[in-house]
Amino acid sequence: MRKTVVAGNWKLNNTIAESIELVTLLKRELSDVEGVEIVVCPAFTALVEVGEVLLESNIKLGAQDLFWEARGAFTGEVSGALLRDAGCAYVIIGHSERRQYFHESDEDVHKKTKAALEAGLTPIVCCGETLDERMSEKTQAVLTRQLEGAFKGFSSAEVLRCVIAYEPVWAIGTGKVATPREAEEGHLFIRGLLGKAHNSTVGSETVILYGGSVRPENAHELLRKPDVDGFLVGGASLDAEAFVQIVRASVEVKV
Ligand code: PGA
Repeated sequence: MRKTVVAGNWKLNNTIAESIELVTLLKRELSDVEGVEIVVCPAFTALVEVGEVLLESNIKLGAQDLFWEARGAFTGEVSGALLRDAGCAYVIIGHSERRQYFHESDEDVHKKTKAALEAGLTPIVCCGETLDERMSEKTQAVLTRQLEGAFKGFSSAEVLRCVIAYEPVWAIGTGKVATPREAEEGHLFIRGLLGKAHNSTVGSETVILYGGSVRPENAHELLRKPDVDGFLVGGASLDAEAFVQIVRASVEVKV
């Protein structure tokens, strides 16, 4: 049985005080939720304080990025061990914004994913095609390249420890959500890829989230697709009520 995961990616938003306020609301409103893994990913500066609020709660802490080296002269970078030290259980890797604005390559995503696993973190490995790529029917080629790159040389057990987020770039922050059918197609294709690269267990057991303009209004229909195991939520995760509704939708449909 795959687990259902709903992760909020707060991106570059929220001071420490705002982060504490948001997570305090989430903790209160979601304290009864069982059977869904809830994750929040604040900015680096708020991780420790948010983590303190989340102690003994059913919500896990995640970071939005990490660097692959464990220590040394890498000004501005943060390692997996430091994220663990700050209380993180998860880390987002290879988000399309990092690929687009910070030129992260598939090789970088690979090294970061490996480092996250070595540090004992669960990587949320992002993949997804741009609108141009979809229009020119390159979606499958892009997903293949990104995921083969990310998991190069990984054992089946290592892949199974990762969560994948399928996030069509044209759906991120645009309000243009993928249809449930488009999401399901993407997820099924990814399962097929993992099945071919490893075995059918890896294909069927890896947790795959959908991301891109997820809102309370579209959560149920996306979750009803059997291969959608939850969400990576951006904009709507900054609104406590919206995020709570999305988590509740996932309990209703999946648990
Ligand atoms: P969005 O972002 O929900 O605002 O579209 C999703 C993401 O970037 O993970």
